[in-house]
Amino acid sequence: MSKILEVNNLNVAFDTASGEIPAVHDVSFDVNEGEIYGIVGESGSGKSVSMKTIMRLNPSNGRLNSGTVRYKGTDIISLSDAEFLTYRGREFGMIFQDSLTSLNPVYTVGEKLIELIIHIRGIKRKEARVIALEYLNEVGINDAERCFNSYPHELSGGMRQRVMIAMVLVCEPKLIVADEPTTSLDVTIQAQILKLLKKISLEKRVSVILITHDFGAVAQLCGRISVMCGGYIVETGTAEDIFLSPGHPYTKALIASIPSSGREFEALSENDSSTSSDASLCPFLGRCKYANEKCRKSIPEMRDTGSGHSIRCWILYSN
Ligand SMILES: Nc1ncnc2c1ncn2[C@@H]1O[C@H](COP(=O)(O)OP(=O)(O)OP(=O)(O)O)[C@@H](O)[C@H]1O
Ligand SMILES: [Mg+2]
Repeated sequence: MSKILEVNNLNVAFDTASGEIPAVHDVSFDVNEGEIYGIVGESGSGKSVSMKTIMRLNPSNGRLNSGTVRYKGTDIISLSDAEFLTYRGREFGMIFQDSLTSLNPVYTVGEKLIELIIHIRGIKRKEARVIALEYLNEVGINDAERCFNSYPHELSGGMRQRVMIAMVLVCEPKLIVADEPTTSLDVTIQAQILKLLKKISLEKRVSVILITHDFGAVAQLCGRISVMCGGYIVETGTAEDIFLSPGHPYTKALIASIPSSGREFEALSENDSSTSSDASLCPFLGRCKYANEKCRKSIPEMRDTGSGHSIRCWILYSN
């Protein structure tokens, strides 16, 4: 299977009035062509910052201190902003939680889609209109004509998210980053949108990075999953590895915290994972009942326990 994205040892910090705050540590993962890759972890664990770093969407006080990112073998970190812009949009598509703020309120869905299609394909307005309606149909909008003539605020949250997906698809990306794409939607609509992402990935061989709190979704959709805690990836494996034989105490606690009646995990404790006092130690240290002397001195590298299941935890290693 060929790798579309290779991320190695990302370290990201924010410059703030009270000094530099590290946010992402030594993050490495790779995504295969056509794969749905899941990133899970509690709030503040660095999921969005990691992806925003790769997509150059961090605010100006965010700084990539070290790390490499290769897209289809090309080092995209060293590209100029102008060169990078040809990737973002064309090769990479992004879907965020709040589509209302991403869609321009003064244009109808149709006007915006037509403008985008003309820009991308350089075709006439009449042809662009036909294509726009095709895309609205493709993302499962039944009354495409009505949606076409609507303003974003006139649509339901689920419809807006479908419109966002249509806009992304128009650009024919090879990689879609979906950061909590269903968080603000009700459960039935969430399932529909996730099913749509799966269909797109399968039919178009598009890779998807799905960031979510929804463990049900990652279990169903994702080939592989990385678990983040306090800016570190602490475990990476297949859905089976993560759910059936989790190795890191944080992953275990996360899975145990999924309420049986619900699909999302609850906060593990009052402690936000970002509040770990020493960034050079395991972010789960203060909450881990297995912590030993080694854990109080340093944090280990990710180590592969075999066949790609890797874990960052001292209790699993004798040295
Ligand atoms: N602009 C910023 N300035 C300073 N720190 C920031 C900034 N943006 C993010 N951070 C810090 O980076 C850390 C990771 O944030 P991030 O948004 O990646 O979390 P997340 O895992 O996406 O959480 P959530 O599930 O709530 O979206 C947090 O501790 C946050 O406080
Ligand atoms: Mg986030």
